[in-house]
Amino acid sequence: MSGGAGPAGSAVRRIAVIGAGPGGLYFAALAKKLAPHREITVWERDARDDAYGFGVVFSDETLDGIAQADPPVFAALSAEFARWSDIDVRYAGQVRTCGGHGFAALDRNRLRTILQRRCAELGVDVRYRTPAPPVARLASGYDLVVAADGVRSATRAALAEAFRPDLDERHCRYIWLATDKVFEAFTFIVEQHDFGALQVHAYPYSRRRSTFIVEMAEEAWRKAGFEEPAGRESGRGESDLPSVLRCERLLAAHLDGHRLIPNASRWIRFTTVRNASWHHRNVVLLGDAAHTAHFSIGSGTKLALEDGLALAAALHEHPLLEGALVAYERERRPVVESAQRAAQASLEWFETVGRHTGQGAGQFAFNLLTRSRRVTYGNLRARDAAFVDAVDAAFGGAADGEGVGRVAAPDGAAPDPGGGTAGVPPMFRPLRLGLLRLRNRIVVPPLATFTAVDGLPSGFDRAQLGAQVLGGAGLVFTGMTAVSAQGRATERCPGLWTDAQEAAWRSVVRAARELGDTPLGIQLTHAGRRAAGSVPGPDGIGHPLADGWPTLAASPLPWEPGAPPPRAAGVAELAGVVADFAAAAARADRAGFDVLGLQFGHGHLVSGFLSPLTNHRTDRYGGPLEHRLRLALEVLAAVRAVWPAGKPVVVRISAADWAPGGTTEAEAVAICRALAGAGADALDVSTGEVVAHQKVPYGRGYQVPFADLIRHATGIPTVAVGAISGHDDANSVLLAGRADLVAVGRAHLYDPLWTLHAAAEQGYAGPGARWPQPWQPGSRRPPGPGADRVAPRLRLLPEAAAPVHRRWLPADGPAAGGPDDGGLDGQAGRKPTEPVSN
Ligand SMILES: Cc1cc2nc3c(=O)[nH]c(=O)nc-3n(C[C@H](O)[C@H](O)[C@H](O)COP(=O)(O)OP(=O)(O)OC[C@H]3O[C@@H](n4cnc5c(N)ncnc54)[C@H](O)[C@@H]3O)c2cc1C
Ligand SMILES: Cc1cc2nc3c(=O)[nH]c(=O)nc-3n(C[C@H](O)[C@H](O)[C@H](O)COP(=O)(O)O)c2cc1C
Repeated sequence: MSGGAGPAGSAVRRIAVIGAGPGGLYFAALAKKLAPHREITVWERDARDDAYGFGVVFSDETLDGIAQADPPVFAALSAEFARWSDIDVRYAGQVRTCGGHGFAALDRNRLRTILQRRCAELGVDVRYRTPAPPVARLASGYDLVVAADGVRSATRAALAEAFRPDLDERHCRYIWLATDKVFEAFTFIVEQHDFGALQVHAYPYSRRRSTFIVEMAEEAWRKAGFEEPAGRESGRGESDLPSVLRCERLLAAHLDGHRLIPNASRWIRFTTVRNASWHHRNVVLLGDAAHTAHFSIGSGTKLALEDGLALAAALHEHPLLEGALVAYERERRPVVESAQRAAQASLEWFETVGRHTGQGAGQFAFNLLTRSRRVTYGNLRARDAAFVDAVDAAFGGAADGEGVGRVAAPDGAAPDPGGGTAGVPPMFRPLRLGLLRLRNRIVVPPLATFTAVDGLPSGFDRAQLGAQVLGGAGLVFTGMTAVSAQGRATERCPGLWTDAQEAAWRSVVRAARELGDTPLGIQLTHAGRRAAGSVPGPDGIGHPLADGWPTLAASPLPWEPGAPPPRAAGVAELAGVVADFAAAAARADRAGFDVLGLQFGHGHLVSGFLSPLTNHRTDRYGGPLEHRLRLALEVLAAVRAVWPAGKPVVVRISAADWAPGGTTEAEAVAICRALAGAGADALDVSTGEVVAHQKVPYGRGYQVPFADLIRHATGIPTVAVGAISGHDDANSVLLAGRADLVAVGRAHLYDPLWTLHAAAEQGYAGPGARWPQPWQPGSRRPPGPGADRVAPRLRLLPEAAAPVHRRWLPADGPAAGGPDDGGLDGQAGRKPTEPVSN
């Protein structure tokens, strides 16, 4: 193996590439182009013209990269592309079309052929029908071994200890097919059958063919009877023809007499591949061998090509191999992980698509399009304003009427609710909770300040509540407030168990009322085994005090190893806790609060009873869920008995524990159903903080799917919370019907006027965002530097705007959509189309 410093890229002269898929070939071509002296050998076990798979689809963004890196490849690809910009969502007998997306697709085998030719031109030695020698042999004979050997990479398996792969086989079954029906656009079909929901991801990739992937959740797939044909013996490369014919019949309405075309097509499950490391000594993983991203975001080939580009560039830029491989991984990992997060959200959405099949067609289409969280309300508006306007106009919460936090039952598609007000962003639509009318859908969630002394709210608590009232949210909560001295999370937490505390809170409420009429909520808690902790540092983490006060919990489990254990609460003590909650609720009412928040999440006392991880009791408060729910229901009943009927109670739960053996989704739904039955008006759906050893997949909006789950499974209004910090995300969550309210926490600490600023940024100035009267002169975003610079006209003629709707209508291809132009009966919302020249 050669090595040592030298001119850029000179250290790596002999390269072995395992696999001539798109990733391996593109890398080989670029690495050879950058350093023609290199000897690059590619091994491919299949023949040059073995044709597996159908189309691949790219977004405009990827194409820019390909265009720049190797113009001849781009030119050859461009000549083959089917191009369009529309996405059609076919659902409940209707079609909704959203334009402005920009797609290009081609036959996967044409892509391979173009890359094969480019490799041949550049002098890459590609050996077809030749399995690669064992990786150990290649690693000792070559400077670098690139394992581009696909999703089932044998190289990755051979070096599993070094790469530490994680293979996550998902819950849906899918079969990858083509059809000779040429779809005009990316087409998602979602149908509800008696066996469950079924979805199709289809797109054109040539003048004659479309990719057609049929997918369904495992349970629906079994009920539909696909298990039996799928289980039959078959040879390598054989298709499951009975299943293909069955799909053809099931989806006949969308195929318009056209065929489904199999090619080694069998039901499989998608595996998300992740690796802790992508390189080991002189072996590096590339493409599907290193990572996969669910096909519903159409980016596997794109990622493989981008890997090839980045690895070739890194070898060029770094004189030493190790530096190049580190740079390659450092550059690619964040990009890939971001794509994988989007793909994960997307695949989970499709795994649970049945959750949404009660929505109206417009909202369903919006929900589908924003499923990965990458595409948002704002993106879609920029791409196709008319599409978003139509969904927006039908969204609940018109300025004259108001959205009531109940959702359609999940059986059968509901019509889109009418009567909305176009032009009002979803976050500024009102909502009624109990008898309370909220001006908009933004909530400031409980944000403890840890500034209290003797349980009395501090000047800072007063100032914070005031600032949040001025800031324009529809509902503002205090931080957690203990129902007893014992139940304080820290010594600096406020409480509501004495007359003095009640008077202090009354004064805080009165001061806030002088600033605005925003409804005020107080969150009551007993912190359970999370009581008697230190005040959290800037990282938000507190720890149990070694010399704190004695605490109570479901079971005597310390929060973390070495911490003092809580005492398992006796039944009489629990009755005392219930009474403390009721007394504090009565005080909260007298103090003037409008909404009662109950902290039944985050490992506090009640949460500790709900979770199987922290409740090991054998009495009637432990064991099955109905027993673990007992304390929660007792507290809620006692609180409801004293809290006025028209004032809402909002209960916060941890819908997941992020630790093995924790609360399941089904349990979270059952808990919420029981809480709603006992008088909760809304569920504030958080997760985690139940056990210290949790592993939380933090990311933008990572808890939203739980609010969505609960809202659709129970019909109870939900508050989504957690890393929703932009108004665009808030609008997306609301318009997609994933939650009724959106809580924005830390962003309101960064900017207490977050909600009003969001209104200004969206150009909204209606009743949903009321500026404090004395501040109205500042209610417009101040002009930035350079605002007084007036640009001269530099174009003789205005540039033609790209059409929003472009469809794939190849002039000399078979009639798009068959004899009657592919229309579905009753296609509401079909937009005019424009042919695209190509
Ligand atoms: C149903 C489905 C739909 C998809 N749709 C899209 C889409 O629309 N758009 C998109 O961008 N991506 C899509 N993908 C993903 C895409 O197919 C892959 O991400 C992409 O092909 C990865 O390229 P690669 O070069 O890493 O691996 P591969 O294309 O899998 O190539 C690996 C190659 O290595 C060879 N090989 C393996 N082991 C050896 C060995 N020991 N010796 C020699 N050769 C070996 C294999 O024969 C193969 O040719 C889809 C995937 C699936 C499953
Ligand atoms: C400083 C701070 C204090 C918090 N205090 C509480 C609290 O008292 N009660 C509670 O239920 N959650 C509390 N939380 C959690 C927030 O209510 C919210 O769930 C969390 O910050 C996630 O939302 P975000 O990403 O918008 O900040 C607190 C969070 C922060 C940052």
